[in-house]
Amino acid sequence: MAAIRGRADDQQKIYQRWAPVYDRVYRGILSDGHRKLAALAAAAGTDILEVGVGTGLTLGHYPSRCRVTGIDISEHMIARAREKVRRDKLQHVKALEVMDAHALAFADRSFDAVCLPFVITLIPEPERALDECARVLRPGGEIILASKLGDGAGLQGAIEAAVAPLVRHIGWSSAFRIHRIIAWAERRGDFSAAEILPVFPNGFFKIVRLKQRGLSA
Ligand SMILES: C[S@@+](CC[C@H](N)C(=O)[O-])C[C@H]1O[C@@H](n2cnc3c(N)ncnc32)[C@H](O)[C@@H]1O
Repeated sequence: MAAIRGRADDQQKIYQRWAPVYDRVYRGILSDGHRKLAALAAAAGTDILEVGVGTGLTLGHYPSRCRVTGIDISEHMIARAREKVRRDKLQHVKALEVMDAHALAFADRSFDAVCLPFVITLIPEPERALDECARVLRPGGEIILASKLGDGAGLQGAIEAAVAPLVRHIGWSSAFRIHRIIAWAERRGDFSAAEILPVFPNGFFKIVRLKQRGLSA
């Protein structure tokens, strides 16, 4: 528990430094993933939770009929997202709260879709966070993740593993494997991997759609 807290604190410190420059560095490279993820979430329903909302780069991509709640562990990133919501009059954004993905303060079955854009690889206990996402999801809902999700194969996999301890200090993760998400879904038995989509640049990032089998099936 102390180790998780320590790594969550590290994320807060790292993203305090990123917050002022994050949009300039990441807006362009992540925008394809943000756009596709928001469209998939909106297709799953209107009540959407975004975990690790950061500075809110995805928020403007959701259609106005949606009701979006965002959470992030970094108050500095959330402050930027709040500014964006005010400035761009994003009325479909209902709440932005500082919260840890390991312990979501929402009732069971609150959302039609839970999105995790470019965050799952940074969370100390991703399976625990995914269990929380599943808990707050309505039956038949979807968890939609976008990230650098490699398969660990070949030279690329070896390089990703080698540089992982270095890039962690700047808030990146290179060695997270897509199998970990699929294995989580298989272990639970109530989710299936509905889709894996390549995202700009050239499939470097991927989107994974997990559909809960739920009551509506
Ligand atoms: C790479 S940024 C992505 C931000 C945004 N989703 C985007 O796509 O631009 C990762 C974000 O995840 C947040 N984060 C890291 N660990 C977290 C945790 N345990 N719970 C909630 N947010 C977390 C960081 O504070 C940061 O804002």
